[in-house]
Amino acid sequence: MTALTALPAWQTLLEQASQLKQIDLRAAFASDPGRAERFSLKACGILLDYSKNRIDDAAMANLFALARATGVESKRSEQFAGTAINRTEGRAVLHSALRAPASSVIEVDGVNVVPEVQAVLARMSAFADKVRSGAWLGHDGRAITDIVNIGIGGSDLGPFMACEALKDFGAAALNMHFVSTVDGWQLASVLERLDPATTLFIVASKTFTTQETLTNARAARAWLVDKLGSEAAVAKHFVAVSTNAEAVSAFGIDTANMFGFWNWVGGRYSLWSAIGLPILLYIGPDHFRTLLAGAHAMDQHFQQAPLEQNLPVILALLGIFYINGMGASTQLISPYNQPLHRLPAYLQQLDMESNGKSVRLDGARADYHTGPVIWGEPGINGQHAYYQLLHQGTELVPIDFIAALANPKSSAEHNTILLANFLAQTEALMRGKNEAEVRAELSAQGLSGPALEALVPHKVFDGNRPTNTLLLDQLDPASLGSLIALYEHKVFVQGVVWGINSYDQWGVELGKQLAKTIEAELRDADRSGEHDASTQALIAYVRKALNG
Ligand code: F6P
Repeated sequence: MTALTALPAWQTLLEQASQLKQIDLRAAFASDPGRAERFSLKACGILLDYSKNRIDDAAMANLFALARATGVESKRSEQFAGTAINRTEGRAVLHSALRAPASSVIEVDGVNVVPEVQAVLARMSAFADKVRSGAWLGHDGRAITDIVNIGIGGSDLGPFMACEALKDFGAAALNMHFVSTVDGWQLASVLERLDPATTLFIVASKTFTTQETLTNARAARAWLVDKLGSEAAVAKHFVAVSTNAEAVSAFGIDTANMFGFWNWVGGRYSLWSAIGLPILLYIGPDHFRTLLAGAHAMDQHFQQAPLEQNLPVILALLGIFYINGMGASTQLISPYNQPLHRLPAYLQQLDMESNGKSVRLDGARADYHTGPVIWGEPGINGQHAYYQLLHQGTELVPIDFIAALANPKSSAEHNTILLANFLAQTEALMRGKNEAEVRAELSAQGLSGPALEALVPHKVFDGNRPTNTLLLDQLDPASLGSLIALYEHKVFVQGVVWGINSYDQWGVELGKQLAKTIEAELRDADRSGEHDASTQALIAYVRKALNG
């Protein structure tokens, strides 16, 4: 038994979950007129209705007790205070400092980091003002029209997701491009549409050692120098975002054109830092500050609201209830607004790279499940694809339904239909359709006897499929900031309860090491490493195709 499974609240969770697996939510709503209101709350412009979950008051009370017993409140204080809670890397975890007011004092090793944060933000803003106004001139004196962010993982997903989400706030004169993969097809496809004289590249890499990013950055640099005919052009068309000034300089980008950040900012938590430069360039400094303010508002809510009224805490505990109590292994993110189409991909890294761990901070192996598989795409498309499994399949899939009420660019006609579908799905998943209803429906259609009987079991929906409804007043920089911070803190709370370190990611390293070895073997036929028979044969097969 680990420290977690030995807790009385853990045992109670297992017992309650096994009973509540059988809950009849339709009956629960019918017998309890206050259920919807009691299990709903609003903070930072986000309404959360979690009443369509397989919960009751006792289960929620126990989940809050579990959070208290695992130290969520004290760990939360440690995180915000700059304690090195990322213990395997000896680092503080302070993305919250990136969105704290300029007057805040947040210390790492006795040094207030807020002035440095604000100084970088001011430099980014000044740079963005120049680019956006056309004052920043390219090598031949023309203004920038296209921005290419070269980065991967946290150096791509956040900026890409936010630029898409905030398109209505973006500069019409700027075209944003994101290149992440080392499949050269992507970079080539972007470059073939661009004029180098009006293109700005942002090379974004926390470490500035990431193979995919550096390969793309080198290729982009060579393309630019070739097209503009001068090495001097690099200074006008390349900027870097990194914590590694030395590597930036070695790459050939003047550190005067570098925007820095710090090792207490995790890659998947970095869009608030200089990694957010593409966002800032696109939506402008004022909107970027509003994005930060939205996240800060959620930081305040998370720190100050009692656990029972705390959005991130509630989302986290519900997730734990399904993962550990009912065997759910995935969590679907179902945003209904098209601009949020990259949110599931963003949350995949945020959640899975953070809580995809099986060893506890105390070194013991976790004897329970931890982070789920996060998946999803815009919900309305999902309805016509994988929702069949959600309604009638054998998997239990908890779902977060996310939508904004106001949708200025969409016609009232479109928005009403969108929101009707949004609401209908959560209702259908909860209420299902029982046998009596199916019989009545088929009879009304004129069916009877064996023909009716044969169809009945196929048309029954069990219902009681759990959903959270998250409604934003509107999708704007402030609400997006709050929404992202909500999920960041949810991930944190789950990590604390599971007793794992949400802030390292050693699991990504082995593949990177092996790729280096295999790369050398693909290039050099005389080189052969120690591999299993499958990998060995595949290397030979690929090498032949590559080298003839
Ligand atoms: O390989 C995983 C990872 O280290 C992520 O954690 C990170 O966001 C991504 O690679 C990119 O890293 P970097 O910003 O250092 O290029």
